[in-house]
Amino acid sequence: MTSSIEELIAGWDGEGVVSHYDAEHGAWMFIGVHSTRLGPACGGTRMRVYDTPADGLSDAMRLAAGMTFKCAVAGLPTGGGKAVLAVPELPVGADRQDLLHRYGDLVEMLRGTYRTGPDMNTNGPDMDVIGERTAYAFGRSSGNGGRGSSGPDTAVGVWHGIRAAVAHAAGSAELTDRTVLVQGVGGVGGELVELLVKDGARVAVSDLDGERVADLQQRFGVMAVPAGAVVDTDCDVYAPCATGAVLCAETIPQLRCRIVAGAANNQLATPADAARLRAAGILYAPDFVINAGGALHLIGLELLGWSDATLADRLAGIGTTLTEIFTHADAQGTTTEEAAEAVALVRLDGGPAGSRPAG
Ligand code: PHE
Repeated sequence: MTSSIEELIAGWDGEGVVSHYDAEHGAWMFIGVHSTRLGPACGGTRMRVYDTPADGLSDAMRLAAGMTFKCAVAGLPTGGGKAVLAVPELPVGADRQDLLHRYGDLVEMLRGTYRTGPDMNTNGPDMDVIGERTAYAFGRSSGNGGRGSSGPDTAVGVWHGIRAAVAHAAGSAELTDRTVLVQGVGGVGGELVELLVKDGARVAVSDLDGERVADLQQRFGVMAVPAGAVVDTDCDVYAPCATGAVLCAETIPQLRCRIVAGAANNQLATPADAARLRAAGILYAPDFVINAGGALHLIGLELLGWSDATLADRLAGIGTTLTEIFTHADAQGTTTEEAAEAVALVRLDGGPAGSRPAG
């Protein structure tokens, strides 16, 4: 059931929403600033077709809150935000450039309170265009002062996370002969497949885009799984790397994996789904912890001036953080989601900005 825009705004715990209707393109722009408690609200710009503008706003709000937790757990001195461009169809060419320019003006209006970057259906070249109107766009090409796509480093973080989850569930991080099913092989999932294959895993992939699947089959000999069969395919690790809300009351009882660990944002349809996974004996790597690699890349390199070595360390730290969260959840008898939220809240409620969260 869709809530109205008024209901969504009234029910949100974030700091504010900026909205703009772009009459020329029939597009709604929403920027959700969830929290600036630890620093400027950072999060990507998602471009998508939604059934209603309210669905787009709701997505921006949920994703913005996820960014607050993501940055907090990753120890970044930044807050959480997210933008949605709810378009009637994905624009290309001059239309796209036009829309992105006006969106850049909206971002600039916030004077750095919100800083954007790539997300679903937006990429580095889009950030170059937005960057013609505002300084607050991460992920521009190096010629334009940025450090490029965050997809590959998001995948590196997820790979560390998968190893940590396998180690926790099976006693060794070794991926040889473990089966990993990667759902969605775009900018992040495709890179993840490559890392997993190199690490000796048996990899299966699924994507609505048959060309992407065929390409990976040809390059790495991976198995292909039809979209409709993902949920009940036997595997050690299920790695959702496409849209969110894939873990819900209907899908969880069908899962035949030991671990869910993937890059998609907002994988749980509702908070109760974390408990459903736990009851099913499935180890869940909270999405906002395992997929922080993109944020570490963009914010670390572009805002904090990290070296490549520091970034590599921090990406590996995603595995360490997850191990702590898994151990904590076991000890306390909570879900891993609750354990991860507790880490975020310690930092948000009391931790000094700029320090890593304790435990
Ligand atoms: N959209 C990505 C994410 O959800 C990357 C990103 C991080 C973009 C931080 C902007 C700022 O993590």
